[in-house]
Amino acid sequence: MHAKKTQLHSRRILVPARSSVAKQPPITAQRADFQQALLAWYHANQRTLPWREAPSLYKTVVSELMLQQTQVKTVLPYFARWQAELPDFAALAAASEERVLKLWEGLGYYSRARNLHKLAKAVAALPEPPRTPEAWRELPGVGPYTAAAITSIAFAAPAACVDGNVVRILARLTADATEFRDSASAAKYFTPLATDLLTITAPGDHNQAMMELGATVCHRQTPLCTVCPVLAFCAAARSGEPENFPRLAAKKIEQRQVVRVWCEHDGQILLHRAHASARRLAGQHELPEASALGVKPTAHDLLLTKRRAITRYQITESIYRTNLTPALKNLIAKSDSLAWVQLDHLDRITLSGPHKRWIQALRAQLKV
Ligand code: ADE
Repeated sequence: MHAKKTQLHSRRILVPARSSVAKQPPITAQRADFQQALLAWYHANQRTLPWREAPSLYKTVVSELMLQQTQVKTVLPYFARWQAELPDFAALAAASEERVLKLWEGLGYYSRARNLHKLAKAVAALPEPPRTPEAWRELPGVGPYTAAAITSIAFAAPAACVDGNVVRILARLTADATEFRDSASAAKYFTPLATDLLTITAPGDHNQAMMELGATVCHRQTPLCTVCPVLAFCAAARSGEPENFPRLAAKKIEQRQVVRVWCEHDGQILLHRAHASARRLAGQHELPEASALGVKPTAHDLLLTKRRAITRYQITESIYRTNLTPALKNLIAKSDSLAWVQLDHLDRITLSGPHKRWIQALRAQLKV
């Protein structure tokens, strides 16, 4: 009898009857218990990450900019190299843009590197760094999420971080079925609730606990509800279908075809260098597009086809072998963005991540 009761009880915690959904008080009425459960879990389970060891404002800023649109495991080796070469704001402010971009090579979204560089110059010129989210938002590359992350972690500012992970957790805790047209409007919608639930006495830990929960437990698909520290507060888990939250309008995927050229001559490869002020690629080298060279490759010269996704684009990139014709020679001579680079000197320039991999693959394939 007793055993049966226990069993029933534990079943109710995991997947209670639907009728109990309405009986639960709102999460804000259980704020203190929720915060305590979240923080206790974070203190016992947080990943060891280099910016969390002997934390500093600089480490926090660098890690937060690197972590924009990028996963922790991708950032780790970049962060280690960066710290070894540019250990503080003064070192970064004094570094050349070329050095900064080289250290960022492969991490993508290069405007983040240029913004971080500008930000370090601005901070190094101040008598002391700003301490409020509002002041940080004035700096390049710092949006509401990053400003809240930096100031809550480094200065215990009471600012809640709201990104995709946090939206997912909050939408599930409240089983809020509002449909959002994009993640930015969802973040805006959930900011008051995130602020209401923030642990004022430990905002940095609270924000990082939410990020950690989203990254390691409250997955988009198949969330690990059985090990979730805040399961008892979660209306979506009680509904039995946590994956249904949040409701985001499906992204319209657009297909794009890009035709590129592999033009090799005398141990050199023809590359396109993006202008230093280009928003996305800033000074990065890439295999040139056929359209920019006035070249029309034939199917017979196809060397490699790759697919990749950038934001809402599904891009098919095809690379064709092209000979150096007099017309092309002429065009290269007049261009200030096309350059010959020695195949043996490719490590001296910055190549965007995918191009670095494609060139490596093609050199192996063509044995050059
Ligand atoms: N994502 C963004 N900021 C983060 C942080 N400080 N720790 C882990 N993941 C993050």
